[in-house]
Amino acid sequence: MPIKEAFSAQPALTVPPPLNRGERPVDVTRWPKPHTTTQIDMGLEDLIEKQLAQMTLPQKVAQIIQADIASITPEEAKQYHIGAILNGGNSAPASQMDATAQQWLDLVDSFWSYEEDQYPIPIVFGTDAVHGHSNIAGATIFPHNINLGATRDQALVTSVGVATAREIAVTGMDWTFSPTLAVAQDLRWGRTYEAFSCDPALVGELGGALIRGLQGTPGHEDFLGDDKVGCAAKHFLGDGGTKNGRDQGETDCDEDKLIAVHAMPYVKAIEAGVVSVMASFSSWGGQGMHGRRDLLSDVLKRHWRFDGLVAGDWNGHGQLPGCSPSFAPQSLLAGLDMYMAPDSWQGLLASTIQAVEENPAWLPRLDDAVKRMLRFKARLKLATKGRPSQRSLAGRFDLLACDTHRQIARKAVRASAVLLKNAHQFLPLSRDQRILVCGRGANRLDLACGGWTLSWQGGGDLAASFPKSQTFLAGVRAHMGADNAKLDFAENGQWVEKPDVAIIVLAEEPYAEFRGDCDSLDYRPGDLDDYHLIQRLKDQGIGVVTILYSGRPLWINPALNASDAFVAAFLPGTEAGALADLLFGTVQGERIDFSGQLPFPWPAFGDQFDVCSPSPSRPPLFPLGYGLTLKDRSSWKKIHEVAGRVSKDPCRIFDRGVAQGDWQFSLCDHAGQGGAIKVLTGRGVKALGGGLHVKAIDYGQQENAISGAWRAKAQLIFEYHSQGEIAVDLRRESNAGYGLCLSGLMEQGESLRLALLGAWSGLDETAMAFFLPLSGAVRQGDTFVIALKQFENLGIDLKLVRFLVIAGEAGASLTLAKAIIAPVTAGVV
Ligand code: BGC
Ligand code: BGC
Repeated sequence: MPIKEAFSAQPALTVPPPLNRGERPVDVTRWPKPHTTTQIDMGLEDLIEKQLAQMTLPQKVAQIIQADIASITPEEAKQYHIGAILNGGNSAPASQMDATAQQWLDLVDSFWSYEEDQYPIPIVFGTDAVHGHSNIAGATIFPHNINLGATRDQALVTSVGVATAREIAVTGMDWTFSPTLAVAQDLRWGRTYEAFSCDPALVGELGGALIRGLQGTPGHEDFLGDDKVGCAAKHFLGDGGTKNGRDQGETDCDEDKLIAVHAMPYVKAIEAGVVSVMASFSSWGGQGMHGRRDLLSDVLKRHWRFDGLVAGDWNGHGQLPGCSPSFAPQSLLAGLDMYMAPDSWQGLLASTIQAVEENPAWLPRLDDAVKRMLRFKARLKLATKGRPSQRSLAGRFDLLACDTHRQIARKAVRASAVLLKNAHQFLPLSRDQRILVCGRGANRLDLACGGWTLSWQGGGDLAASFPKSQTFLAGVRAHMGADNAKLDFAENGQWVEKPDVAIIVLAEEPYAEFRGDCDSLDYRPGDLDDYHLIQRLKDQGIGVVTILYSGRPLWINPALNASDAFVAAFLPGTEAGALADLLFGTVQGERIDFSGQLPFPWPAFGDQFDVCSPSPSRPPLFPLGYGLTLKDRSSWKKIHEVAGRVSKDPCRIFDRGVAQGDWQFSLCDHAGQGGAIKVLTGRGVKALGGGLHVKAIDYGQQENAISGAWRAKAQLIFEYHSQGEIAVDLRRESNAGYGLCLSGLMEQGESLRLALLGAWSGLDETAMAFFLPLSGAVRQGDTFVIALKQFENLGIDLKLVRFLVIAGEAGASLTLAKAIIAPVTAGVV
């Protein structure tokens, strides 16, 4: 096969750039290039040209669209020759998050039609295997990238990639949307844990290491072989630098920083041979990445000579001005080669075919995108690998969480735990001590695994889904000898026999993407009142070791002061028990020690948002790279304990009888609007003209709900009243398929109508055009759900929501226990 050494630069586009209007494009010449000798495989290029020549326009467009398993059937995929399939975080065979690996393999297989249907192009299947094969019950759930950052161990990270690729191959999938190469700059960002570090060099090194594990080494025989999968480096570009750590926001920096901080890891990824790159939801210079031609085409493809696939993110193309999920030629023209159009594929297919028919000048760009998709598939060797279920590792379910993989996970857990305090060398523990294990995280897998575990947001009882896993508690048990006579477990720390040592596992609740954005770095002590728990044990004269599970460093000074030893374990995954090895300082009789180093600086204050680039006058509590060993003799000087504020979640409107966060409510009828209320007491309240009466009632618990009875036309109005943000922006929630969820009883609710509004105008009849009938809601148990998209379809601007209005007529009544904006598929509670 003739190989040409030099790479002929991509031809410049003849199509006028759709975006960048009035905006200065980046200066490409300033962007350092990857060191690669790109080889053109002429045989491959010939094949691609031939395939392209045989494709019709609809087939070409279908080739560059990726649909989600929840919104397309295998028959439809075959009928339209859709190019790619994915399972989003909340999509699974038969919508069962804990489906078996066999069900997954069958599902992947059902989309495959290469051999039978004469169409010469195989379909490609992508998944978010972002910390192990993390959508699959029974897989090894490795620690998240933040942990891998703390290991600083390239070889270990490569082995995590090797094991993950093998587990993916077991289920017949081809491609993982990993690694995240975000250089996270603000710990408030909900995706901080998906990033290796805030240090671009470390992100680049470890990103490259993970890619080599997942894909193999370019030029070597193993490259994208039977036990390898393709990677998507994401999210290009600047996802980690968004203003105020707001997910999908605007990257807040100049071009120099964009290059030096955010782009460098991609240079390393290209050097490691990454076969695809995913565009970011975020924007730079006010323009969404899905439309930045200068970055997608000029920098990435032409200047860097990246000849792989530029994939889109979840309907990310629909966020460009003038575009929607089902119409976005701008993205294609800017350089996107594959639209991720999970639920919008059908409309997008039709509109894109029409757009290219009407603008034949766009055909060369479409052809280039198709060729890139074909090249990508050829590199993945899909045609030779053949039917997913027939591949060499397919169905080898014994490989899921096999000993070898679990040992790698355990190694990663140990190498990533960072020892922040060990006063008077309190650790290591000895099995002769009487030990009490407590705290919310001690025996919970979901808290150890975090987001992107079986479901998008993670959470839920995972024990049955991961039978080979080991929680922290189980890890301690394994160290304490057969009878465990000296070990007690009590989540709330209530002991019977006084222990020598208490180990308390604190934890953040799981989250993913924007759901994890917060406005304060203060740890939330939760229902167990963690700070008091630690202090109580301390006051009882018990030695305390605290372990924190979290997706980011958090301000947790009271726990640091009160504990004798403190370990930041981040999100260790299904082998969390390996943390016990470290506390006892032994593995199978051999002495081991802590080696983890902080991948981010640790904040000294809950509002230290610049902690990744701290000012000298306000240094972090612990700097980047900090981490003690058992040998270190360190003293502890008490640190301040003044907490900042605790984050409020604007998506929680009403719960447990109280208007949540910055929400409050009032009543309105023909006589006008009454005063604002947070929580109802006594006899309740009537609208000024008596049209509506609302009182507190019991709904399973004491006064945890309100009930409203309508005597005339009237409204119950929830209003957002924050000092900071003036309104709630629900566009990201809408894009992710969220709904407005009202729990309670709405039996007499036929006349009730709901609206999410930016401005509210009393009982005004014309505004009723923006109301949806409650009777149209989907009922799940006692929860009524209306998808946010339905409000958008009425023409409501979800960027500016300030009011939730429930309007009714005489005779209507409702019992409302909870009003939240939540993912619709992930079990609305
Ligand atoms: C995320 C990506 C992910 C994709 C598919 C998006 O919302 O930003 O990281 O790969 O969904 O699940
Ligand atoms: C999907 C995720 C996706 C997200 C987009 C969710 O509904 O399950 O895979 O990343 O939406 O923000």
